[in-house]
Amino acid sequence: MIRLVLDCDPGTDDAFAIMLAALHPATELMAVSTVNGNVALPHTTENALRVLDHIGAQVPVFAGADRPLVRADLPIPRDVLNADNPKFQVAELALPPSRTPVQDVPAVRMLIDTFLDPANADVALVAIGPLTNVALALEQEPRLAERIPRLVLMGGAHVGGNVTSTAEFNLWADPEAARAVFTAGLREIVVLPLDATHSAPLTWADCDAFADLGTPAGEAAAMFLRHRIAQDQTPDGLKAEPSAPVHDPLCVAYLIRPDVITSGGAFPVTVETTGELTLGQLIVDTRPWSKAPVTATVAFSAAVEVFREVLMEAFAHDLGTGPTPP
Ligand code: RIB
Ligand code: CA
Repeated sequence: MIRLVLDCDPGTDDAFAIMLAALHPATELMAVSTVNGNVALPHTTENALRVLDHIGAQVPVFAGADRPLVRADLPIPRDVLNADNPKFQVAELALPPSRTPVQDVPAVRMLIDTFLDPANADVALVAIGPLTNVALALEQEPRLAERIPRLVLMGGAHVGGNVTSTAEFNLWADPEAARAVFTAGLREIVVLPLDATHSAPLTWADCDAFADLGTPAGEAAAMFLRHRIAQDQTPDGLKAEPSAPVHDPLCVAYLIRPDVITSGGAFPVTVETTGELTLGQLIVDTRPWSKAPVTATVAFSAAVEVFREVLMEAFAHDLGTGPTPP
């Protein structure tokens, strides 16, 4: 059994990752922590609770940081930032309001207590939002660098960006936190950047396949994916067919099927924190002669067939205690 803690900023793709981790037979989702990111913290927290209630999963949710470490005024939550496309990441996921309360314990406390516990030496940490909570936990308890066996994160882009031409949103939203995480001396960091997530887009046919499962997770996945494809801004000429990347669940899929990643390598990796045009850029040193210490494994491409198979395996499950009728 692959046990994990998920730090997220739901977000429709975070919702996919939550459902995958909670439902796949190979994984046990021990806890969810939320962070300011796609939308403000109260919304990312409510959205995480809604997703878990929708599928009937009993997983505790812990609220974390409501702003970046340093840029308290910048960047702003994505639903405010993307004024030009406000429908992409909406404040409230289109699911019934949550019935389960958030935990009283702050997320950073949960992360520290979880990973200091020797009984959790096998538990992976998966971070699919800005890295503020992870950086705060490492700062408050540096022993976590030795205790977290591996951190798998969605973030960055080796080529390109989304929120700017050079930076991906999660790293851009809190670049100081990202830099702190990459330099904390963690035992293993695996990075799933946009290069990998964009190489495995999902399609309208996948929406139908999810809906045909007839489960709460399949219903939600179809709805979220239809929304993502409809809102996707990649020019159609650049796509073989209407599709959209679903970034975050690829991290969980990697835990289940490492072969989902089809290319990549171990490199010196860090994050730009001061560049006028490159703030938040993921810096991957691929020079064979580099003397810098290797700090992370970076994936450059993924197999959509494996990704799809893992998602279908998980979303076919109905915990039977799913959504109450509206
Ligand atoms: O850039 C994509 C990432 O930013 C995803 O994790 C998405 O949910 C947002 O957090
Ligand atoms: Ca996310």
